[in-house]
Amino acid sequence: MDVSEAIKKRRSIRKFKPDSIPEEKISLLLESARLAPSGTNTQPWRFIVVKDDDTKKKLQGAAHNQRHIGRAPVIIACCADLKAFKEFPERVDELIESGALPEGTKEVFVPFLKKGMDTVTKDALMVAAAANVAIAVEHIVLQAVEIGLGTCWVRWYKDNKVKEILDIPDHIEVMALLPVGIPDEDPAPRPRFDIDKITYWEKYNQGRIE
Ligand SMILES: Cc1cc2nc3c(=O)[nH]c(=O)nc-3n(C[C@H](O)[C@H](O)[C@H](O)COP(=O)(O)O)c2cc1C
Repeated sequence: MDVSEAIKKRRSIRKFKPDSIPEEKISLLLESARLAPSGTNTQPWRFIVVKDDDTKKKLQGAAHNQRHIGRAPVIIACCADLKAFKEFPERVDELIESGALPEGTKEVFVPFLKKGMDTVTKDALMVAAAANVAIAVEHIVLQAVEIGLGTCWVRWYKDNKVKEILDIPDHIEVMALLPVGIPDEDPAPRPRFDIDKITYWEKYNQGRIE
């Protein structure tokens, strides 16, 4: 299956067969997340793989009783480590070493990032965390399609409850709960806006110039 096919085939799946998911498949999903891009290669994503029925039931409760949480054989709690953003000097060194950034970058880039980090608000960090972790989560989602698994992004949950259930410390934020399993439904494509509604050309609100 190629990427275009996986993108077209993907649906949010809320009904799963009870079959457990082999470890190799879970590893493949996590590997696809590991390879995602991130700003300054921060890699702030952290994942908690939950298979225990009791924990899943508790997560379902924290997610306003959304039943696909309790019924999926696996839940991946997709989190962001806000401390990861402070580790940029190491990441810049690695990027220089790997040839992704030119040698002189460190002298300019590291003080620039350091200044930003000294004044950054938690809200701003959360925006960066959301962008970076979302890419990794969607890697998992699309990889799952290729290996016959279904997923559903879940963001409607009580954050503090999920953190309590999973023993998550303060500097880690939950960005999504991802139920994973073999689909037991085959939903039709959900409605989408036309491309013209979501695209402008050259300037905001400007139509295509022929
Ligand atoms: C950030 C995000 C949060 C979502 N939160 C939930 C959720 O809490 N519960 C749920 O059942 N679906 C949730 N969804 C799934 C959406 O409802 C779904 O993507 C949308 O209706 C389009 O359907 P499709 O994914 O099948 O194309 C979420 C999706 C995204 C991307």
